[in-house]
Amino acid sequence: MSADYSTQGDIAVISMNNPPVNGLGLSTRLGIVHALQQALDDASIKAVVLTGQGKAFSGGADIKEFGTPKAVQDPNLLSVILAIENSPKPVVAAVHTVAMGGGLELALGCHYRIAAPGASIALPEVKIGLIPGAGGTQRLPRVLGVEPALNMIVSGEAIKSEMLASLPGQKLFDKLAASRESLMDEAVAYARSVADARPLPRVRDLPCKHPQGDAYFQFARNMVKGMSKNFPAPLKCVDAVEAGTKMAFDKGLVNERELFLGLLTTPECRALRHLFGAQRAASKIADVPDDTPVRTIASVAVIGAGTMGGGISMNFLNAGIPVRMLEMKQDALDRGIATIRKNYEAQVKKGKLTQEKYDQRMALLTTTLSYQDIRDADLVIEAVFEEMGVKEKVFQQLDKTMKAGAILASNTSTLDVNTIASFTQRPQDVVGMHFFSPANVMKLLEVVRGEKTAKDVLATVMSIAKKIKKTAVVSGVCDGFIGNRMIEQYSRQAGFLLEEGCTPQQVDKAIEAFGFAMGPFRMGDLAGNDIGWAIRKRRYVEKPNLRYSKTADLLCEMGRYGQKTGSGWYDYQPGKRDAIPSAVVDNMIAEYRKTLGVTPRKISSEEIVQRLVFSLVNESAHILEEGIAAKASDVDMVYITGYGFPMHRGGPMLYADQFGLFNVVNTMRRFAQNPLDDANFWTPAPLLARLAAEGKTFNNVL
Ligand code: NAI
Repeated sequence: MSADYSTQGDIAVISMNNPPVNGLGLSTRLGIVHALQQALDDASIKAVVLTGQGKAFSGGADIKEFGTPKAVQDPNLLSVILAIENSPKPVVAAVHTVAMGGGLELALGCHYRIAAPGASIALPEVKIGLIPGAGGTQRLPRVLGVEPALNMIVSGEAIKSEMLASLPGQKLFDKLAASRESLMDEAVAYARSVADARPLPRVRDLPCKHPQGDAYFQFARNMVKGMSKNFPAPLKCVDAVEAGTKMAFDKGLVNERELFLGLLTTPECRALRHLFGAQRAASKIADVPDDTPVRTIASVAVIGAGTMGGGISMNFLNAGIPVRMLEMKQDALDRGIATIRKNYEAQVKKGKLTQEKYDQRMALLTTTLSYQDIRDADLVIEAVFEEMGVKEKVFQQLDKTMKAGAILASNTSTLDVNTIASFTQRPQDVVGMHFFSPANVMKLLEVVRGEKTAKDVLATVMSIAKKIKKTAVVSGVCDGFIGNRMIEQYSRQAGFLLEEGCTPQQVDKAIEAFGFAMGPFRMGDLAGNDIGWAIRKRRYVEKPNLRYSKTADLLCEMGRYGQKTGSGWYDYQPGKRDAIPSAVVDNMIAEYRKTLGVTPRKISSEEIVQRLVFSLVNESAHILEEGIAAKASDVDMVYITGYGFPMHRGGPMLYADQFGLFNVVNTMRRFAQNPLDDANFWTPAPLLARLAAEGKTFNNVL
């Protein structure tokens, strides 16, 4: 059982012991109630202190137990809290470091709470599509007041204990300890001081009201509705808290439980829980154990101060790591620095960055034209032109100059990392770090593992990714890695849809209604249609039999590269970004259809969405089968964090799982009958066909 029992004179100490964060799984729950009983049975014990060992008071429920019999097996969390609340001897929660979710609900069941400063306090259930389910929505408003409590519950954000302890009239903490170190002594002394106090204070007995009543909740509901978009949980938080102001405590608890259970089975909750697990799983690499030693990264060099080099540098500056940028010419460096300054200054203007932090970051940035000046950097990231010849020269130079043990990374988006590694005598130190544009904003980092990349290099890059707040996903070497390889099929399919009868705006509207931030044609206009044009010129020389719609090439031949040229798939008014449907483009597509002899047909939004999403799913199945991505959840992470796939759907793989792989395959077979579509396109990847036939899923769905 995961809780220890000890005594200090007449005070019992129950200490949860379930590393890393004292999750409230069955063994911790059993541990608490058994230890409590021991304290109650011992006549010499006057009061009890409940705390957590190690890195947390408690991080909350064990989400791995959700949906399993263990989650509801007695004692469940509600009954543990009830046991504490009904204890005839006072129970004092000694809270430190982290009290989140069920951990905070547990503390709220105690008669008194004492917190160490610096502890993170939160009810973050909303982030996995739920509401607190063990009294949080009923007890927190009683100790903090309805409004601050609802803000915490709806946002799920953590607030520091000292900040909460300073709120006027708050009853969350009876005392703030002087320090983490003194917490236990102070808690034991506090327990002794209240040992004889009766009746014991219980949070449930406190009043729960908002002075503006209904008007406040109406306002709160409007605010939350605007922000929560595709997710049902935030509004349910409002419902639960409001009910708490109107119902007797126990009825409020039952109501909270019903709302909680109702959310647990929604697709949105499933998607968020999947992504929560996927985020953690992405950092685990099967053959690179967690305890693999990492190399120290105290300084970074970036080669190339262009679009990517500048953004990449900012990530490290933001994390307090010095960066030296290297270019061929001084004016390129000057331009790079000016862009970084401009980006930071915009943040200062918006109040998102203090002048002091801006100055600190810029002070960490230096430049050079000489490789000698970067030789001692621990990590060098190359972001020069996308040409193998240029990369070859850079990596030969790096091999000659960089100190032994330095990690040599390339930000290439399409080139073979194994070939790049072969330009050096130390391929084990070479790795791909594929950032996304704008590199200082986008969360995704594809870490490209070359054939010879050393395990400690991978472990180091994964750990530095965390430091610079990126979601790192490991990809094997192939053209396009995980994400760009998927989007290529999606773009091809979007082109076929135009040929058959859609307008760009129909396609965009349908997929945006599905939840994508931007449809493929608006996206093309934003990123620049010429980029795809250049890639296609190369790709379809290599693969002349691969069919694709020429409409995108015709568009580029008209000079319509997108927003940067004032027109693309859409028209744009000067200085504005609103996409206006274009008669010129409609005509171009109509003329092209004539050359193909196609009579346009009306295509439903459902078909548009399925064709686009299943094109991603099928390519992902190939990617998984080839071992380019190790796990289906990695694919979902890539597409959610880098390509705007709707979060509430959990990523293309989870979406396919929930649609049913059998249904996906059948739908693809139907698409393959369409004489205008490319029948080969819809041949199910062997992995997809196999899983569908066996009634299995891509993800081991949580
Ligand atoms: P860019 O053209 O904006 O910048 C490249 C910079 O490298 C220029 O400032 C150039 O002066 C410098 N450079 C060229 N040869 C050099 C050399 N031998 N030594 C030192 N500096 C040299 O290009 P961008 O967009 O920043 O792309 C850089 C790399 O990042 C490419 O490999 C590209 O495929 C990759 N990438 C680009 C993305 C994008 O959206 N732009 C996204 C992800 C990766």
